[in-house]
Amino acid sequence: MIAPPISNAEVRAFAETKVNLAKETADERRKKVNDEREHLKNWAGEHPECGIVKSYLSGSLAKGTALKTSSDVDVALYVRYEGERKADRKFLDWIAARLRQAYPLMTPDQIEPSEYAVKVTYKNAGVDIDFVPVFYDGDKDNKGWLVSKRTGELLMTSVPMHLDFIRKRKKLYPQHFAQVVRLLKYWAGKKKEDDEQFRFKSFMIELICAHLADSGTQFDNYPDALSAFFNYLLESELKERIAFTDYYGPSALPKSKSSVVEIFDPVNPENNVAAQYTERNRSLIIAAAQEALDALNEAHMASTKADALENWRRVFGLTFKG
Ligand SMILES: Nc1ncnc2c1ncn2[C@@H]1O[C@H](COP(=O)(O)OP(=O)(O)OP(=O)(O)O)[C@@H](O)[C@H]1O
Ligand SMILES: [Mg+2]
Repeated sequence: MIAPPISNAEVRAFAETKVNLAKETADERRKKVNDEREHLKNWAGEHPECGIVKSYLSGSLAKGTALKTSSDVDVALYVRYEGERKADRKFLDWIAARLRQAYPLMTPDQIEPSEYAVKVTYKNAGVDIDFVPVFYDGDKDNKGWLVSKRTGELLMTSVPMHLDFIRKRKKLYPQHFAQVVRLLKYWAGKKKEDDEQFRFKSFMIELICAHLADSGTQFDNYPDALSAFFNYLLESELKERIAFTDYYGPSALPKSKSSVVEIFDPVNPENNVAAQYTERNRSLIIAAAQEALDALNEAHMASTKADALENWRRVFGLTFKG
């Protein structure tokens, strides 16, 4: 077989230079955030009535799937709150007030409620922390009501269990699982730039990759893994239910379909991560997958490097270099 004009090594080089958050930056940010969490933990220990129970680094920095373009770090803030369980202004102000007490050296404007989280801005570190609240009653698996950053909706789930779930897949495919996820998140990011109706949540991309990993897809060859992802979307049309048996059995899932796309939270069978996705959202994803798969196939068959490059650029934009 003739080698394709754009090699796996070239795709990896593109990922390393253009897609991934540099390891040093990620390590630096992780250290910064963990220092802040440690400080908060000590402060909460001295103020047992404050209602702040604990925190976890969540989101892409915790999972090793952060992109170069991301500057927001998510921290899940577990709280015990006596008022109404609702991500309203009153509740977010309650959190902000406590964070301001815990970080007295920061100016009040560095700690502000954003839509459904509280944002802490560090002037010199080039990083912001989004404290995403979780209403918590002491569950041993760290399940609690996570506030959706996008909609403010309450989702019963466990951030540490999600981290454990993703870590298991990363362990089976060291480097490559996370790399394929980052490439796909980058692709989805491009699509979002082109069309504001295009939606494809990072967590959904990760769960689809986990489903593929569990069904035997290999991740070490990036062009093949990307094609497998797009191919799966086209074959299933995202109409096939995706669920996992790590933490509950299939009988726990709802009997009938209630949303267009069903990708269940590995932690809670009642939480469909794609519940908000409409038929239009679904069909835009399928159309984008078709376009990407066509381009990858053409790139594979291309007789010149320039032709292959042009096709890879249809997927990843003009920053793609062979
Ligand atoms: N619908 C949901 N149900 C349960 N948990 C969710 C849901 N959405 C997000 N999460 C939790 O929030 C975490 C962050 O997911 P999200 O898709 O917001 O972005 P991310 O992984 O931080 O990626 P990026 O910020 O780079 O796009 C997930 O790992 C998961 O723990
Ligand atoms: Mg995030």
